[in-house]
Amino acid sequence: MAMELLSKIEQRAARVAIIGQGYVGLVASMRSCEAGFVVVGFEIDEFRAGELAAGRSYIEDVSDDEVKAALKRGFTPTSDVTLLAGFDIAVISVPTPLTEGLPDLSAIESAGMAIAPHLSQGALVILESTTYPGTTTELLGEILESGSGLSVGSDFHLSYSPERIDPGNPDFSLDNTPKIVGAIDDDSLQASLAFFETFVSQLVPVSTPAVAELAKLLENTFRHVNIALVNELAMFASALEIDVWEAIDAAATKPFGFMKFTPGPGVGGHCLPVDPSYLSWQVERQLGQQFRFIDLANTVNRHMPDHVVQRVMLLLNRNGIAVNGSRVLILGAAYKKDTGDVRESPSLEIADRLLNLGAKITVVEPFVEAGRLDPALGHEVRLDAAQVKEADVVVIATDHSQFDYKMVAANAKAVFDTRNKIVGEVFGDFERL
Ligand SMILES: NC(=O)c1ccc[n+]([C@@H]2O[C@H](COP(=O)([O-])OP(=O)(O)OC[C@H]3O[C@@H](n4cnc5c(N)ncnc54)[C@H](O)[C@@H]3O)[C@@H](O)[C@H]2O)c1
Repeated sequence: MAMELLSKIEQRAARVAIIGQGYVGLVASMRSCEAGFVVVGFEIDEFRAGELAAGRSYIEDVSDDEVKAALKRGFTPTSDVTLLAGFDIAVISVPTPLTEGLPDLSAIESAGMAIAPHLSQGALVILESTTYPGTTTELLGEILESGSGLSVGSDFHLSYSPERIDPGNPDFSLDNTPKIVGAIDDDSLQASLAFFETFVSQLVPVSTPAVAELAKLLENTFRHVNIALVNELAMFASALEIDVWEAIDAAATKPFGFMKFTPGPGVGGHCLPVDPSYLSWQVERQLGQQFRFIDLANTVNRHMPDHVVQRVMLLLNRNGIAVNGSRVLILGAAYKKDTGDVRESPSLEIADRLLNLGAKITVVEPFVEAGRLDPALGHEVRLDAAQVKEADVVVIATDHSQFDYKMVAANAKAVFDTRNKIVGEVFGDFERL
């Protein structure tokens, strides 16, 4: 059954639908267009679909020019579900958040229901959203079968391929990051590999969708746990008056058996605060057991914004200033360097807590359009010496490349540095995480 699809892929005659045009889906749409496929980018947010149709990107890693070039190649961004008719390959890249602390697969369910009526014999559906093992076969497979009247495996192909893109990373992108693929049978695997081969340089086939689902959760849990380890170490080291950053750098000289992670003000984004909880939820639901590493990492990482606030208050106190009425300049609202992604950002949690304590907050965030942050916060898109001089304390929360830390060190009355960016002489008072 896969032969016909394989030949369509080879001739670039396969019609591709990418469901969800966010960080993951829009990049997949661009690469699929460049590989020569005709692509429908299905997006429920009509504003987003309209922006793309007008040649404008809302994702930093995708330029307006790329969108315009894709439109010329036949890219159709749309919120019209009927345009999914006749697809050969559908890739689902919709959000998988936690709602009230529990995995929320409603977007995968509605994407599956949107695709199912248009599913035809021999077509391929690939899920890319991060989720717990079993979602592809048990949840998506069943939705597709009941909505189409077709049978998974004998009538259509199904696979799971987690996305690993790292927005803002200048070295690794979709094309040069190895991509894991796990499918429900060999035909589905061969079709999925053939499709991704057209724009990804290295593929990693695994035996089942569940292995691929678990591999993705392992990667993010590994990161989450190791960040929690250095965060907890940073809190103890500061109490012990030992420079944790220097100790980490020294440990990182070991050429084997150590991987460097650095402390920070907490974890943010769509991945680390969310994905490990998908795994612990499933372990608890199916096995009745607690995934203790994940619980502990959540506790430590969620505590970090509080810890930063306490340390900032102590720094202000040392200088005779009450937090109530103090002027705090926070560098960066995004959770991640050189992006405007403020989802679950610890910077904003810190800002919020200080605001509730009566501080006057200004956040400098160059990657977020003016007016898009909480209006209770002052928001500047450029950092200058006047703002730094005026603040009672500057909190370095996000390490954006364009921030001039020398200027900050030379002008600030006090700095709290959560990213170890201030080196050398400091004009005012100084504390590091
Ligand atoms: N952002 C990352 O760096 C990253 C990396 C690896 C994996 N992931 C995973 O990929 C998935 C997508 O993440 P993202 O960052 O691209 O999310 P996103 O929020 O940037 O984009 C998702 C898009 O899907 C749209 N959408 C929601 N429901 C839809 C539906 N039923 N039909 C069509 N469109 C729908 C939303 O409007 C949004 O534009 C998540 O599971 C995430 O965990 C994200």
